[in-house]
Amino acid sequence: MIQRLLPISFLTIFLLGLSTSTSAQDTKVEVQIDSILSQLSTEEKIALCHAQSKFSSAGVPGIGIPELWLTDGPHGIREEISWDSWAPAAWTNDSITAFPALTCLAASFDPNLAYEYGRALGEEARYRNKDVLLGPGVNIYRSPLNGRNFEYLGEDPYLASCLAVPYIQGVQSMGVAACVKHFALNNQEKWREHIDVQISDRALHEIYLPAFKAAVQEAEVWSLMGAYNQFRGQHCCHNKTLLIDILKEDWRFDGVVISDWGGTHNTLQAVYHGLDLEMGTWTNGLTSSKANAYDSYFLASPFLEKIKLGEIDEEELNKKARRILRLMMRTSLAPNRPRGKMNNPEHLALAQEVAESGIVLLKNQNQFFPLDTNSDIKIAVIGENAIRSMTQGGGSSALKAKIEISPLTGLIEAFPNAEISFSMGYASGPPVYGKVIASPYDADSLVADALRKAKEADIVLFIGGLNKNHHQDCEGGDRLSFDLPFGQSELIDKITALNPQTAVILISGNAVAMPWLNKVPALVQAWYLGSQSGPALANILSGKVNPSGKLPFSFPKKLRDNAAHSFGAISYPGDSLEQHYLEDILIGYRWHDTKNIPALFPFGFGLSYTQFALSNFKSSTEYAKGELQLIVKCEVRNIGQFNGQEVVQLYVGKANSAVERAQKELKGFQKVNLKAGETKNLVFKIPLNSLMYYDEKSSAWTLEEGPYQIYLGQSSVIKEAQLSIELQNS
Ligand code: GLC
Repeated sequence: MIQRLLPISFLTIFLLGLSTSTSAQDTKVEVQIDSILSQLSTEEKIALCHAQSKFSSAGVPGIGIPELWLTDGPHGIREEISWDSWAPAAWTNDSITAFPALTCLAASFDPNLAYEYGRALGEEARYRNKDVLLGPGVNIYRSPLNGRNFEYLGEDPYLASCLAVPYIQGVQSMGVAACVKHFALNNQEKWREHIDVQISDRALHEIYLPAFKAAVQEAEVWSLMGAYNQFRGQHCCHNKTLLIDILKEDWRFDGVVISDWGGTHNTLQAVYHGLDLEMGTWTNGLTSSKANAYDSYFLASPFLEKIKLGEIDEEELNKKARRILRLMMRTSLAPNRPRGKMNNPEHLALAQEVAESGIVLLKNQNQFFPLDTNSDIKIAVIGENAIRSMTQGGGSSALKAKIEISPLTGLIEAFPNAEISFSMGYASGPPVYGKVIASPYDADSLVADALRKAKEADIVLFIGGLNKNHHQDCEGGDRLSFDLPFGQSELIDKITALNPQTAVILISGNAVAMPWLNKVPALVQAWYLGSQSGPALANILSGKVNPSGKLPFSFPKKLRDNAAHSFGAISYPGDSLEQHYLEDILIGYRWHDTKNIPALFPFGFGLSYTQFALSNFKSSTEYAKGELQLIVKCEVRNIGQFNGQEVVQLYVGKANSAVERAQKELKGFQKVNLKAGETKNLVFKIPLNSLMYYDEKSSAWTLEEGPYQIYLGQSSVIKEAQLSIELQNS
């Protein structure tokens, strides 16, 4: 169906007139800031701009300006760290609720849940008296080997934006600043502290910046963390293009730019290229440190000296101090700041709801799942991940959870009549940052015991995957292989040879190789699920909760099917100095679709215990708030026996474009609850400017005349567009 729209010239003028949102400047607050600034000495202003301890920066005690306290992490409040070392402070009042890692939140495709998640996290940060929460991480999933993908929101900039914005709004509703990170292009851990990323302007603006831009312009985030790596020859913590030209001038960010811990390398660049608060210098971000080096920070005495000598105008310092005071007025100095809460039942229930909403059912032959909770079946649970704590390890996002119920415990509680045996099957060793510690167990005896139990059981639940050890899903190092570690794939082969009724549950934050896939009737992708891992997983496997998660990143059949791994070492991991993102805009499903390299499991894919059908596709246009929108409608029907949720996804493509484009890109999604047999009408409102591409010649977003293809589906694999619209020139 061809839909005639307004002449493009009118549209172009119209769209260019759209005002970009700016964070609301509260004049009264600005007046207060000016008044405080006028009382501060140069030394006191300098002290505001750099750390005084591992996780705090100075206030102005003489006039009652409090210190600023920062805390990790994106899925829970990190335990108290010592004043001047990375050792835990060994407090006994800092155990917290561990929420699922952000890949799980991304897999929920549920922005409402993202808001509640952020709000609960903000409540726990408040209770722990923290002013800045160092999250969310929104770096795009580029390689399955990146050690920190588990902390982020997947491969699609639109999905990441739609979840980061409400998460940030939730955190900040509690008077705690969110700190969106790591800006930008920190898409791997290998050589993270210096690798110099080279990328086209188009890929930068279309793929890697949108989630940050949405955080600034839609969520009005109060702080942002610079990344460790370099971009076009400058470190991101003081990169003029990123922090001045784009962030502060173009996007009009009025918050504080905070360095990553050890990400600052140069005083003049830090002064003039947009860094406001220097943290963690002389550390590698997590282990080594130079003792009490705070006065020698780049924005400490070297900065002060240059001001005293007249080499740097004090106004440069005032700009930084003003932003930091504005952050304080929004947090520690805010009147009527909400009270915090911690470890309350609501937070645990929310952690479980996010976990249940994010778990993805990838395969379910012959209705292997759900399992009957009243059955007296013999279940062999095999795999270290069934009992291992997954809230520890992983680097700066590690947590000291007050509660963590393991998958095995959850299964035992959920299946009281079943005869459940357990065997570790393999062992990985303890999570020690930066090191691989061998396990104390004898691998052969673990395998032998697992096979004995598999043979005796009616069914096997293999619970494996990755864990938060070094060179797995862990900060500071990438994975060394796409394969499952510790001989898991070989073990799965041996188990399935003895007992074909074997389901695999992967607990991980990354895609892995699955050579055994055809041998197992069922497969579940579970994430790092936090405090309520056990009950959440058991509810999904028992059908008490119908799975509704969708993959936030593609699972390639083999590593070289992944875009970043298709252009040699210079693309990943780089040549140790430079790295070129040669796949450009074709990342994730954009690559798999456009290059016709089918993924093993595609972005947006996830099964349910019921089935859904889409129909009755329509499109039109209308004006809303002075903005022209595409209106796309469809019906979704639950045609199965179970009540459930479906994520209906809307993608848009542009055939015969003047520039290279992905076959289709996600531009809308809705998660809907449907009772068995129920039908709902969905309406998608797509702003026309979301169809623009970034034109490198004019350095501007550009709307191309039609036709455009609209795809509606239940994953990114949709062969034929259902609708077509035409943007015509006047
Ligand atoms: C780490 C991480 C960053 C974290 C910070 C403080 O190195 O890169 O995400 O918030 O330092 O721990």
